[in-house]
Amino acid sequence: MTEPKEQAGGNKTILLVEDEEAHAELIRKLFEDIGSDWKIEWVASFKEAMKWLAENENKPPSLIIADYLLPDGDGLSVIGKGRKMGEVGIPGIILTSYGSERLAVRSLKSGAMDYVTKNAVELQDLPWTAERVLREWLNIAERKRAEEEREQLLKELKKERDKLKKAMGHMADLKEVTRMKTDFLSITSHELKTPLTPMKSQLQMLREGYVGKLNKKQEKSIEVVLRNLTRLENLIGDILDLSRIEAGRIKLSFDSMNLNGAVKEAIKMQEAFAKGKNIEISAKLAEMPNIIGDAERLGQAIGNLLNNAIKFSEKAGKVIIETKRLGKNVQVSITDYGIGIAKADQKKLFKPFSQIDSSMRREHVGTGLGLAIAKGLIQAHNGNVGAESALGKGSTFYFSIPITQKITKKEAPYIG
Ligand SMILES: Nc1ncnc2c1ncn2[C@@H]1O[C@H](COP(=O)(O)OP(=O)(O)O)[C@@H](O)[C@H]1O
Ligand SMILES: [Mg+2]
Repeated sequence: MTEPKEQAGGNKTILLVEDEEAHAELIRKLFEDIGSDWKIEWVASFKEAMKWLAENENKPPSLIIADYLLPDGDGLSVIGKGRKMGEVGIPGIILTSYGSERLAVRSLKSGAMDYVTKNAVELQDLPWTAERVLREWLNIAERKRAEEEREQLLKELKKERDKLKKAMGHMADLKEVTRMKTDFLSITSHELKTPLTPMKSQLQMLREGYVGKLNKKQEKSIEVVLRNLTRLENLIGDILDLSRIEAGRIKLSFDSMNLNGAVKEAIKMQEAFAKGKNIEISAKLAEMPNIIGDAERLGQAIGNLLNNAIKFSEKAGKVIIETKRLGKNVQVSITDYGIGIAKADQKKLFKPFSQIDSSMRREHVGTGLGLAIAKGLIQAHNGNVGAESALGKGSTFYFSIPITQKITKKEAPYIG
């Protein structure tokens, strides 16, 4: 900002365009007499003036003083040229042999900053006029620069605003796509679930021999179908749950409950799986206050964590499930001594469809939904989940739930 100012004001050179040498000398003397530090470059004609300006393009004068009437042209044209030079232009003063209103107006209109009549009295003032004109010019230039800066800023602001608008548009699109995905998942899983129930009951009837006695081979075959049907049912149930969680439409039925009860229920559900791998589940249950929650849904969350602990343990391993009170919260933790999770993979935990891929793990069946659902259910209880794990050593998954909840009458009309 200071640089052009120095260029215009610091270099105190005046280009004086005056065809009469005596006048030029007089003017030079006037500047000398007042002890000013202006350096005066004198040229005697329009052509010379233009030539001088062209040659000094890079080192322009701070001011041009030009006679109105030159033998080969007019001073106003020289001043006009000066105004277009450099970054902010050069101010100019017109000298006239006689004072005339019309001339003055014309001069000012053509870009001269001032005009001075060439008589002895008025010329005395020329050095002061020069100083004043330059000061005014710098002020104007400064204002112009500020204005330009402001305009530039506004332009940039507008650009940023347009970008923001676009990004917001994208975000809206993304939200819409996410909503469509959630709707799709929720609708399809619901539709897929519907025919499963009659299929299952027909198969159960077959197995129980209601439709006719089965031989051992047929019975076994029905067993296989039923087992896979249950898996399918669970998978569809998980997708349905996840879509509801993502849409914020999961329905919880809050009641007074105890987490120890939910833990016991979850252990019961996973017992057969643990037994099959000869894994011992040991429960260390502290005395626990009742909380407000959905016992079935919290049991499901615990079951998902417990299922993983068993699934990712070696055969004949050990899983410990522990409950305790922690200030205003109750906590459940599930520890296994299984394959563990590398530090780099731990950030993928609790995200839908994220199974930490390694050949060992891919042997384990699963959809990668269990942790995401557990997290969603726990968060719906205003709780927190977390995990600590070391590769090859085992993992601890834990969550905590506040003992008291702010539940509205609408959510649980039978409470408080
Ligand atoms: N206790 C655990 N030990 C090791 N890895 C685990 C454990 N629990 C979860 N994981 C990792 O997190 C992934 C996601 O778990 P989850 O959402 O329950 O999906 P799934 O059980 O269907 O694979 C698992 O595939 C596994 O890689
Ligand atoms: Mg799982």
